[in-house]
Amino acid sequence: MVYWSRMKLRSIRSVSVRGKRVLVRAELNVARNASGRITDDSRLKAVVPTIAWLRSHGARVVIATHLGRPDGKVVKAMSTKTLTRPLSSALRTPVQFVDQSVGPKAETASAALKNGEVLLLENVRFNPGEEKDDASFSHALSLLADIFVLECFGTAHRKHASVVGVGRYLPSYAGFRFEEEVTVLSKVLEHPKRPLVIILGGAKISTKITLIGSILKRADALLLGGALANTILKAKGMQIGASLNEPDMIRLVRVLNLTDTSLHIPVDVMVSAPGSKPHVRAVGGVQHRESILDIGPDTVELFARIIKSAKTIVWNGPMGKFEQRPFDRGTTQIAKVVGRSRAYTVVGGGETVDALERVHALKKVDFVSTGGGAMIEFLEGKHLPGVELVRDYR
Ligand code: 3PG
Repeated sequence: MVYWSRMKLRSIRSVSVRGKRVLVRAELNVARNASGRITDDSRLKAVVPTIAWLRSHGARVVIATHLGRPDGKVVKAMSTKTLTRPLSSALRTPVQFVDQSVGPKAETASAALKNGEVLLLENVRFNPGEEKDDASFSHALSLLADIFVLECFGTAHRKHASVVGVGRYLPSYAGFRFEEEVTVLSKVLEHPKRPLVIILGGAKISTKITLIGSILKRADALLLGGALANTILKAKGMQIGASLNEPDMIRLVRVLNLTDTSLHIPVDVMVSAPGSKPHVRAVGGVQHRESILDIGPDTVELFARIIKSAKTIVWNGPMGKFEQRPFDRGTTQIAKVVGRSRAYTVVGGGETVDALERVHALKKVDFVSTGGGAMIEFLEGKHLPGVELVRDYR
């Protein structure tokens, strides 16, 4: 049986929270631009139902999250203080802030909360104990609450103190969104309406190779783009010039069934070379100094035809160097086709969501996962530490 088969989680609905301090480990690692402005607030919106439910049931809510990768040090630009106002407007209630994630100040602030009030802690990753799942840090966090709620599916693959460590000291439950992620992502692979078409892109095949292997057996079609497809082209003996690829992965890629008829890789690509304009090449025709930066028009057409036949679509990862024009074209064209499809559609990953938003197709998507890496690992069938913590084995 696959990991996520018939998985049940302990729901917050099963516990009385009135008057209790509830520590919510939220996923508020939102996408921001260089000046710190939030560019995608979907993770903010995703925590609202759980926190609103807790407040309306009389809980005193303490929110912990990470923001960025400060590596155990205080980095002012990554302070969660910047989230106080957007969170407060998303929740339609004032959010208090304390500039510590543990310690006397945080304890005093959490003890002073009244029923329905909300307190946001400073970035948990400012503490070196967070990413090491240090017991003294998770214990210190547990002193702020009576109950622990995981509402951070996007971080469920991290064995960190605020994700799993706190669960050693407090009864732990899954938030609504966390549960929904698990339910949707399990169902989509276990009981999909067929044809099931899976689109995977992004830079690194190393992060998706296990998923590719397992999904080939389940999907009716698997479409691969982005630099990860370069490594596959290379493994098949094709010239990829100066393109980004992962030579260390070639051996593992060759273990995949590369002749599986459900596997579709680019048939043409957009390349760039120093001193020349971006142009299209058939795969196999890429020259020494050229780098593949996007899928080509024939590939878009091929992928579009397959996507149009789908009844279920799962998409994670861009088809090319999406952040650089004109190499965003392949991804945005695929986004348009996905947006027009009537299939049940599940997407994840920042750039994928961005591409859909750019072509005004995000609202057509049935489910936008808040997990990038976590979504991939879950679909692979890996045991995610966060999911394990709130899993109901009865
Ligand atoms: C994410 O954005 O995928 C999660 O917040 C996890 O962040 P991390 O990759 O820095 O652990």
